[in-house]
Amino acid sequence: MTILVSGASSGLGYHTACAAVHCGHTVIAGARSFAKGEKNGMYTYPLDVTDADSISAFADYAKSLSSHIDAVIHCAGILVLGSTEETTVEAYQKVLDTDFLGMVRLNQALLPLFRAQKAGRIIMFSSINGLLGIPFQSAYTAAKHAVEGYAECLAMETHDFGVQVCLIEPGDHRSGSQHTRLRADIESSSPYAAMAKKGTDRIHWDETHGSDPAKLGRKVISILEKRHMPMRRCIAKPDQHLAVVLHDLLPGRLNSWILRRYYLS
Ligand SMILES: NC(=O)c1ccc[n+]([C@@H]2O[C@H](COP(=O)([O-])OP(=O)(O)OC[C@H]3O[C@@H](n4cnc5c(N)ncnc54)[C@H](OP(=O)(O)O)[C@@H]3O)[C@@H](O)[C@H]2O)c1
Repeated sequence: MTILVSGASSGLGYHTACAAVHCGHTVIAGARSFAKGEKNGMYTYPLDVTDADSISAFADYAKSLSSHIDAVIHCAGILVLGSTEETTVEAYQKVLDTDFLGMVRLNQALLPLFRAQKAGRIIMFSSINGLLGIPFQSAYTAAKHAVEGYAECLAMETHDFGVQVCLIEPGDHRSGSQHTRLRADIESSSPYAAMAKKGTDRIHWDETHGSDPAKLGRKVISILEKRHMPMRRCIAKPDQHLAVVLHDLLPGRLNSWILRRYYLS
């Protein structure tokens, strides 16, 4: 298969792209820090998913390498930590622009080709945070919830054109870069300071003790290679699967109490 991977310079995108190369696929990998070239068995190309011209150049480069593109895997993402009251509107816009609209832009660049081919696979990295909210990650949670809703619409609209859509919902995994994880500066005078420290320390601990990203990369490629991809696949530790199940089953107030106990006490 010829596979495009956004956000392939580090973390889950990098490991997913490497797993694809390992399985013999042709990978065209994009990230802001990439130069045009070849690295680790994949073609690399500079890509900023917030920039329409960059998206067009990336899609054109991929089409120049292969007339048939089988799949796109959207991994590009950033995270901002901060309270809902103090996170700036600009920060919300930046996260939504990257984590949600970046996928929209790249899909729109590829869908005409997928329709012409009568085939195409779209894998979008959502998150456990696409299924439930946790404190001090509201911008990221909002973006991932947007991805979840968008994917359902996309899947229904493109099904008859031979397009398959799959949401990957990872729990905490050890990831590559800290520069895409921005901790909002919370003033010590902030009414949220003590809570935010507990919450963001817990988030940091969960990430550094997270699951193996290489294993996730291999799982994503095995899902991509299935004849029929599932609509959703949550790849997480048992306690995070449980959190998702409880979120759907329990009354909202009880669920909120459990998550506050976990993150804030
Ligand atoms: N790690 C986890 O525990 C976890 C859990 C759930 C979901 N996820 C999701 O998995 C995906 C990867 O996360 P990660 O933890 O592996 O993060 P990461 O190591 O920080 O990697 C993020 C990637 O996105 C790229 N990127 C950021 N902004 C971009 C932009 N504007 N245009 C193009 N590429 C951009 C970065 O490359 P450049 O900086 O070079 O552009 C990098 O390759 C994200 O969608 C994230 O939400 C991760």
